[in-house]
Amino acid sequence: MRHPIQDYLRSLHDSLRDSNEGELAQYIPTLATADPDRLGIALATVTGHLYSAGDDETEFTIQSVSKPFGYAAALMDRGRAEVDARVALNPSGEAFNELSLEAESHRPDNAMINAGAIAVHQLLVGPDARPQERIDRLVSLLSALAGRPLRVDQESYEAELATADRNLSLGHMMRSHGIIQDRAEDVVAGYIAQCSVLVTARDLALMGACLAAGGLHPLTGERVIAARVARQVLSVMSSSGMYDDAGQWLVDVGIPAKSGVAGGVLGALPGQVGIGVFSPRLDAHGSSLRGVRVCRRMSEDLNLHIM
Ligand code: DON
Repeated sequence: MRHPIQDYLRSLHDSLRDSNEGELAQYIPTLATADPDRLGIALATVTGHLYSAGDDETEFTIQSVSKPFGYAAALMDRGRAEVDARVALNPSGEAFNELSLEAESHRPDNAMINAGAIAVHQLLVGPDARPQERIDRLVSLLSALAGRPLRVDQESYEAELATADRNLSLGHMMRSHGIIQDRAEDVVAGYIAQCSVLVTARDLALMGACLAAGGLHPLTGERVIAARVARQVLSVMSSSGMYDDAGQWLVDVGIPAKSGVAGGVLGALPGQVGIGVFSPRLDAHGSSLRGVRVCRRMSEDLNLHIM
């Protein structure tokens, strides 16, 4: 059955399909060999309608798009006070893999950068949890949001683990400041497993729609994320989700969002829709180049700017 939104997504897909600007991420071997031409676009409403076009069922690793959900899980597991004590709430203005720690507290600036997400991973479940329990917690939350069982891609996990010097250094520095307590190797391995969960553009749209719906799942109406937690996650996504491009993004697109180096972009417009895009070539900030373009176009064409 034809639907105007479905037709719109197809025409958006067709108009961006042939653009080949941007570069694949090189520092994780499995990303450097991805098919660069893939383009999947999906949109889910908070009332449970899901539309999509192009490579909408192609699986890719979630990478940094997992960070808002790690943050949501830690906030639900440990409460705001404990999480805020370890991770601050301000944009870093630096690249995603910098050691952006606050001067006095040594807390990472926010939960959307690598340092913040590693600190958040340590907080999952409880202080005495085993590393595998923390990974399972994240995979089950992501699966509940996608409405299907998701899994860690072992090949991506191992490839990233073998080249994880940068994240290990962030982990060691934070452990020296008492921000994480377990061995840095274990926390970083857990964080990398969380980044290696396979998703599709349709999954991301549903995940975004659940945040947009204040934590109620758009298809089932089930409460998956506490309302206060969804609000905090969306707020931090607005200020820091697009890293050092966050201010420009808020002005031009105006949709709380999160990108990942495998080419995923998730948008969540409170009370309205979730957006999921997959296109592997990246811009200078490490975000999907066509993913950013899709969001810009949708914001303009569908009048989605939050202001
Ligand atoms: O930690 C890393 O470097 C990757 N697993 C995730 C980074 C990422 O997705 C940054 N986003 N654009």
